[in-house]
Amino acid sequence: MKKVLHIISSPRGEASVSIKLGNAIIERILETYPGSTVKVRNLSELPMPHLQLLHIGSFFTPAENRSEDQSAAIRVSDEAVAELQEADIIVMGAPMYSFTIPSTLNVYLDHIARPGLTFRYSDKGPEGLVKNKKAYIVTSSGGVYSEGAMQAYDFVVPYVQRFLGFIGITDVSVVRAEGLNVPVVQDTALEKAMASIAVD
Ligand SMILES: Cc1cc2nc3c(=O)[nH]c(=O)nc-3n(C[C@H](O)[C@H](O)[C@H](O)COP(=O)(O)O)c2cc1C
Repeated sequence: MKKVLHIISSPRGEASVSIKLGNAIIERILETYPGSTVKVRNLSELPMPHLQLLHIGSFFTPAENRSEDQSAAIRVSDEAVAELQEADIIVMGAPMYSFTIPSTLNVYLDHIARPGLTFRYSDKGPEGLVKNKKAYIVTSSGGVYSEGAMQAYDFVVPYVQRFLGFIGITDVSVVRAEGLNVPVVQDTALEKAMASIAVD
């Protein structure tokens, strides 16, 4: 039995390829681990606030010294970190927007990059504190980025993978539907991505 966290950042609902793929991964997880539970965080329906001085100040202030405003501001971040720590498997929908991730997902990452909670620096350098997780990065794009001339433009997979690794999530699989706007490639893009799903 696993606890699954599905993070959605596409606003396109049923038309969204990254949501379809994320759901397909979750179906496979439920088959492999019957009785698993799924929590959905839809960042498009419920976006998190951009970090302001209040949030950043509270990140670096011990809980007992925070002002009332700081304590209130940090709650959404604390909840997101607790939810992440509770999950065994994270399915992170990350469609490509302007060669990178949607800003809603970027803001979420800002909220879960918490010094002392999700990472810390020691003599040996940075150490991720989110341990024993499996993550799937689920990405979708109009163009093709896994190979060829546009590979260097992919700021989705390298970024999200390194971010997750930085906070301690190193067991990461990538599921990619690409070329969704490219004639010839587009007809089989989703099918190919579905076929690449491997859950163990
Ligand atoms: C605002 C916006 C920006 C996009 N930027 C890119 C891009 O830089 N490169 C690309 O290949 N596709 C881009 N696309 C196409 C999407 O990546 C593609 O439609 C994908 O399927 C979106 O994910 P979704 O189906 O889960 O919503 C963009 C789409 C939108 C709506």
